[in-house]
Amino acid sequence: MHIHRAERLWLIFGVSMLAVFIAVITTAAVVDGFVPPSHVQSIDPTKVSQTPPFDHPGLRRVGPGAYEAYYVARIFAFTPATITIPRNAHVTFFVTSADVEHGFSIPETGVNSAVTPGWVSEVSHTFTTRGTFLLICNEYCGSGHQLMAAKVIVE
Ligand code: CUA
Repeated sequence: MHIHRAERLWLIFGVSMLAVFIAVITTAAVVDGFVPPSHVQSIDPTKVSQTPPFDHPGLRRVGPGAYEAYYVARIFAFTPATITIPRNAHVTFFVTSADVEHGFSIPETGVNSAVTPGWVSEVSHTFTTRGTFLLICNEYCGSGHQLMAAKVIVE
């Protein structure tokens, strides 16, 4: 009788702790749900070329003077290699890697982001001056690192 009672108490204790545990997990999940997703989205780096919008990298006009540019970085190039935008265009760059860690930098601007496989980096800039801007990889990524570059042409 005493053993049964002790077992029952342990059972009640165990179920209570489980309930507390589930409540904590659920609360954490709900609280997480209210946090706006950060600008970093995850992506399967082995499926970049099949994952929209990175299956069609390039420039999209999303409003008057507003653009989104989707880039894929892979050893040792960026796709697209060149984009052409009008002066005063506000461009949001979304960049992901199909292989290793890269960088995404337009040295004449404030654009500078790491590009990590599995994640989408986001960085924006308004191009107020005409010209051809070099976009470079500024994270050592292998033997062709120095050649890894693209162009942003502002007309
Ligand atoms: Cu890519 Cu250095």
